[in-house]
Amino acid sequence: MIMFLYLLGLVSLWFVYRWWKETKRVSNKEDKYVYVTGCDSGFGNLLTKHLDKLGFRVIAACYTEKGEDELKKVSSDRLMTVHLDVADSQSVGKAAALIKTVVGEKGLWAVVNNAGVSLPSGPTDWLTIEDFKSMIAVNLCGVIDVTLSVLPLIKKAKGRVVNVASVFGRISPFGGPYCVSKYGVESFNDSLRLNMAPFGVKVACIEPGFFKTNVTDTMVLKNNLRKLWDRLPQDVKDDYGHDFLEKGFKGLEDRFKLFTDSDLMKVVGCMEHAISAVYPRTRYSPGWDAKFLWLPLSYMPTCITDRLFLLDSPKPKISVL
Ligand SMILES: NC(=O)c1ccc[n+]([C@@H]2O[C@H](COP(=O)([O-])OP(=O)(O)OC[C@H]3O[C@@H](n4cnc5c(N)ncnc54)[C@H](OP(=O)(O)O)[C@@H]3O)[C@@H](O)[C@H]2O)c1
Repeated sequence: MIMFLYLLGLVSLWFVYRWWKETKRVSNKEDKYVYVTGCDSGFGNLLTKHLDKLGFRVIAACYTEKGEDELKKVSSDRLMTVHLDVADSQSVGKAAALIKTVVGEKGLWAVVNNAGVSLPSGPTDWLTIEDFKSMIAVNLCGVIDVTLSVLPLIKKAKGRVVNVASVFGRISPFGGPYCVSKYGVESFNDSLRLNMAPFGVKVACIEPGFFKTNVTDTMVLKNNLRKLWDRLPQDVKDDYGHDFLEKGFKGLEDRFKLFTDSDLMKVVGCMEHAISAVYPRTRYSPGWDAKFLWLPLSYMPTCITDRLFLLDSPKPKISVL
């Protein structure tokens, strides 16, 4: 019993020490430039407004002109917007050249690779290689391209790279390119963290669970599934059965209702910590589903996770299970 209390005391002390250490923030925020991608909506949009309020010099990269205009209206004069398509190397290079002139000798304090897409998503045999390539171009190649384009500026500032992956970069409960692209981000993140450590550059990965944004809009996801279904050859439709799509929709609605969190600040708070804490973490897993469901599942034997996921998913008409 005494040994148990002694251990409990040590663990509690360690948590208090970690909490105290993690409250420390970097100084001179008004001298620090932070480049965020995908700022038109969702996490990126909220993060830029939050960082702007905290006093950082935000360079908000938007995909659309509307996104830029709306952000400018609600932000301070410090915030600057730039047009960016992360899947287009020319656009990435143009943004990097502009950022280089803006940050000057100070360098760039942080880049947040947030831009991402979740469509097209569906069972893998409903998709083409072009479907995979188009998502990987944004979610993975975009992250790598943007990072490389500003890495010299980040090394100059001994700054940070923050990569937004997903808990689905740790486990793959559904088909299609999303998990593939996010596993790639995790891998890029981990090798970059090691390579940049000698230069004093810190690299952090954000792995959110389900949050209510465009990426998890069930109407959009269902429309995408309907489109994929409509273009399937008849023999594949026959294998799945005419009611497969409706069963899939029901499962999707139920799962998203159960898991989707509307408090985006849980994710934005982690992003902000990764940027502004003196001692940032290497990984953040915002969302109760990420912490208590997906991550624990990712450490379980494959035979268990496969059984659980298969139990929970609709079966094709000719299923042998
Ligand atoms: N929501 C979740 O549950 C969740 C969970 C885990 C990870 N994530 C990740 O979090 C990140 C942010 O997503 P979100 O949930 O905030 O969804 P979101 O609102 O759709 O944000 C994604 C942003 O990326 C932009 N974008 C799309 N394609 C782009 C391109 N080629 N170049 C530049 N920007 C582009 C979008 O612009 P438009 O709006 O103009 O298309 C949008 O502003 C993504 O990487 C996503 O995979 C989300």
